[in-house]
Amino acid sequence: CGIVGYVGPRPVQQLLLAALARLEYRGYDSAGISILSEAGVESVRAVGNLSALRDAVAQRAPAAVADGGAPVAVADAACGIGHTRWATHGRVSERNAHPHVDTSGRIHVVVNGIVENYVSLTRALCDDGARFSSETDAEVIAHAIARRYDGDLPAAVRAAYGELVGHFAFVAMAADEPGVLVGARRECPLVVGRGDGEQFVASAMPAFLERTRRVQFVEDGELVVLRPGGVEFMSPAGEPIEREVVEIDWDAETAEKAGCESFMLKEIHEQADAVAETIADRVADRDRIDLGDLGAIDDAFLRAARRVVVVACGTSYHAGLIGRYAIERWARVPVEMDIASEYRYRDPVVGPGDLVIGISQSGETADTLAAMRLARARGAKVLAIVNVMGSQATRDADGVLFTRAGLEIGVAATKTFVAQVAAMYLLALRLAELRGTLEPARLSELIGELKLIPHRIAALLERGDAEIRAIAARHRDARFFLYLGRHVGLPVALEGALKLKEISYSATDAYAAGEMKHGPIALLDEATPVVCVATDAPVLYKLISNVQEVRARGAHVIAVATEGNGEIGAHADDVIRVPATDWMLAPLLAIVPLQLLAYHVARLRGLDVDQPRNLAKTVTVE
Ligand code: G6P
Repeated sequence: CGIVGYVGPRPVQQLLLAALARLEYRGYDSAGISILSEAGVESVRAVGNLSALRDAVAQRAPAAVADGGAPVAVADAACGIGHTRWATHGRVSERNAHPHVDTSGRIHVVVNGIVENYVSLTRALCDDGARFSSETDAEVIAHAIARRYDGDLPAAVRAAYGELVGHFAFVAMAADEPGVLVGARRECPLVVGRGDGEQFVASAMPAFLERTRRVQFVEDGELVVLRPGGVEFMSPAGEPIEREVVEIDWDAETAEKAGCESFMLKEIHEQADAVAETIADRVADRDRIDLGDLGAIDDAFLRAARRVVVVACGTSYHAGLIGRYAIERWARVPVEMDIASEYRYRDPVVGPGDLVIGISQSGETADTLAAMRLARARGAKVLAIVNVMGSQATRDADGVLFTRAGLEIGVAATKTFVAQVAAMYLLALRLAELRGTLEPARLSELIGELKLIPHRIAALLERGDAEIRAIAARHRDARFFLYLGRHVGLPVALEGALKLKEISYSATDAYAAGEMKHGPIALLDEATPVVCVATDAPVLYKLISNVQEVRARGAHVIAVATEGNGEIGAHADDVIRVPATDWMLAPLLAIVPLQLLAYHVARLRGLDVDQPRNLAKTVTVE
């Protein structure tokens, strides 16, 4: 999502609409603005991209009416906030669009991110008399501030901030305090733009770069109060914080990519957030998984399902493969996998009692939709794992489990993949919990490890990619790359090979390491880079003997291994380390260096990684 706020003398409405247009790359399924002037406050929201909001604003403009009934002259406006939404909680609807407002209509907020404890907070606020009007987790922030509000917005935001659990950034405004905005950040980005007699705040700089290049970054755990004349940074306890002003020389396009050279690289760097948001409230309680409402797929069905079938295409299929290992191992339910385009034409044996999972980033892939419909027509219950709210798959399924990776622009899927894998782990753990197939201690150990994955991905990315770039440089001209893995490492190898193929146009093959000797070994020579997913696992020693077979043919071994494992070094030419975790969860880490390897090979070959030739982000034909 994208959020923006403005205090100052300019016509706020046009300014907010222009700012939101520069944030549309962050999502665009609905949008809204609230504008505050001496005369009162007005809010307009609309479903669809920004043109729908512009139309809605235009329709209202002549009779723009404040809450007191007085017309609002746009030029009088003192401040305003805006939002462009990429739905994660609650359907795409006008009701669920931001800004959200408390029961009295005085406190308005725009929010990016997730409030994990919104269920318990909502209950408490309702007991206190609050009336909620949306299905989002974000609305709770407006009510929480309102409950603490007695004419001092910064104080009320500070008090409410302490009650919120999750990762989010928001900007709040109060009808009784024109000319004041309060922003707060917990993990999700928030940046201030400094002007003369006017101030900006937004989730990303493109929102205001046209107006000012002087910025101040809001750090994690900080609040910021904006008035036309100045900006104050403070801790949640109200202690003032000094923050330097930085001059930015990025152009708007670089800013949209958050300073990265491509959307793909930006999205690779958003993977910690993609996992964090996908698991968020679903693992709030360490001893159990809460998947929320899965529609017709209730607990009784999950407890009794005789089999799971997964259908998907491309990267989503690879996420399904990892899920298969997790569901079989933890929940002891047999899992059948198929590529959607194959499944639909093989007259599959499927019916009542089967849980069919369609995995699709877009929710629009024709083959996946057809496979899901076929299974449903034969009596199976169909669960969609989808990143796009309101997409066709969500309408065709009995239940939906959303990944919350945010909008992905790069054609080669990255952050949506890790979010899908995280969603499959959640489902596997929920099945195990319902069916009693995991010891409670093991269940909470796995939940605990899953919660740490976002931190581990962030640590991995913070280390930088110089080493991977150097490896890519050594092999940039290789005509063929072989990828090997075993167990959960195999889908990682498949996905790593697909990434390289998609964006660098290199021939790749990905194989179960134990199967290599039955064919691909004939392809090896001194010029072949062989990428091995060699993270810690019970099968690691088996994999190492396969690696020795590769080595014996003179090929060059690039291994992805767990930090601290001393075995691999002796068998590989290059070792890329990933943090230790539970071995079943290692794919969420091991894929990251393989995405980067593909990325650097493609960049060194001078290719367009965001829009590789012949590929489409969404394939709506058979
Ligand atoms: C296209 C995209 C891939 C994606 C596949 C499945 O081929 O280029 O990145 O994995 O479609 O898409 P879906 O939206 O169903 O996950």
